[in-house]
Formats: sequence, structure tokens, C-alpha cells
Amino acid sequence: PQSETPNTLRHSIKVVLLGDLGVGKTCLRSQYIHHVFSSAYKTTIGGDFLTTTTEVNNSDDKPITVNLQIWDTAGQERFNLISQAFYRGADVAVLVYDVTNYESLISLQGWWAQFSEHCHVDAPGLVIVGNKIDRTAEQCIDLEEVRPILCRNDPEQFENYITDWKSDVLEVSCKQPLSVDAVFQRVALLGLSKS
Ligand code: GTP
Ligand code: MG
Repeated sequence: PQSETPNTLRHSIKVVLLGDLGVGKTCLRSQYIHHVFSSAYKTTIGGDFLTTTTEVNNSDDKPITVNLQIWDTAGQERFNLISQAFYRGADVAVLVYDVTNYESLISLQGWWAQFSEHCHVDAPGLVIVGNKIDRTAEQCIDLEEVRPILCRNDPEQFENYITDWKSDVLEVSCKQPLSVDAVFQRVALLGLSKS
């Protein structure tokens, strides 16, 4: 019998979710993959991965199918060593902060430094996600306000946020949900551009 159409090339991208305790890393993944949100908080111990596929419209060509291997890691510091083992070979890091938690935004630099050191990948991709925008506006960090504060405290830190990272912040809500798919579209595009 005639053989089937030749195997189409499938791109596989490893992506790691990072960020402080409780910012919503686990919720981000379960909303994206299972379309489920839980308001009960169960902290992640260690970490694990789930896989899914998505289509990316790269240019005017046919959509490209991308396999995403999405690693959820623990925000708790005592699991850092375990998490670091998961970073190896990751094409893209998604740094998540909580838009109502200033400290979680400031922490992102540390997470990025840790990731860069342990991923063993040249120029990995970066997506920054501000989660929980469903919360009231008064509770939310105003990025425009934070940037000058960072600048005053540490000009280099400010530079990193704005220039080095070359990444815009994607503001999302896992609860609503809002812009969750956009995060992984960006991840897939970034991963493709590097493969
Ligand atoms: P660790 O595993 O401990 O590192 O935390 P995590 O980053 O995985 O956070 P998780 O996804 O478990 O969410 C923590 C808490 O925030 C849970 O109670 C969630 O219900 C809540 N949460 C997550 N996303 C949102 C959101 O978009 N809006 C609101 N209002 N709450 C959210
Ligand atoms: Mg978690």
C-alpha cells in the first residue's frame, strides 16, 4: 500500500514555570491544559511536567505544530536544588509574579539568575507573566510606579527589567481566565525562533 504522507517535523519545546510561592504557576498550567481553576491552594512539592501540543502561525505558511513540555516547579526555597535539576535543557523560562505582591516581582531577577545558571542552554527565551489581574485595581502593583522605585534602589536592576530581558510583561488571570493562551503562544513562538 501507498505510504502515508511523510512525517511532518514536530518541534518540541521545554518550558519551565518559575516564581515565588503562591504566584499561580500551577494554576497557570492547569488553566492552560485542563481549563480548570481551583481557589484552594496546594503548594507544589518538587515539581513535574505535563505535555500538550499547540499550533503556531509563524508567518503566512501553514501552522506549525509544537509539542510543549511544561514543567511546574516549587516556589518554596527548600526545593531549589530539585527545581534546578529541572531547568536543564529548557528552551524557555516563564517567570511568574503576582500583580498584588510586590516582593514576587522583585524576586524575578533571582529566579532568572538561577535559571540562566542551570539551564545549560544558550540564550534561553524568557516570558514574564503578571498573574491575578482579576483582583481589584487598588491591590495591584503599578509597573510604571515600580520601575522608578527599582531605578532609585538599584539602577542596574532597573536596566535588567527594561532592557536586558527584552521581554514585555503579559498580564493574565488564571481565575477568569484571561490571556492564559497568549502566554503559551508566546512561549511556542520564542521556542521556535530558537530551534
Ligand atoms: P507554589 O506551588 O507554592 O510555588 O505556588 P504556585 O505558584 O503554584 O501557586 P498556585 O498556582 O498553587 O496558586 C496559589 C493560590 O493563588 C491559589 O489559592 C490559587 O487559587 C490562587 N490563584 C492563582 N491564580 C489566580 C488568579 O489568577 N486570580 C486569583 N484571584 N487567584 C489566583
Ligand atoms: Mg505550584
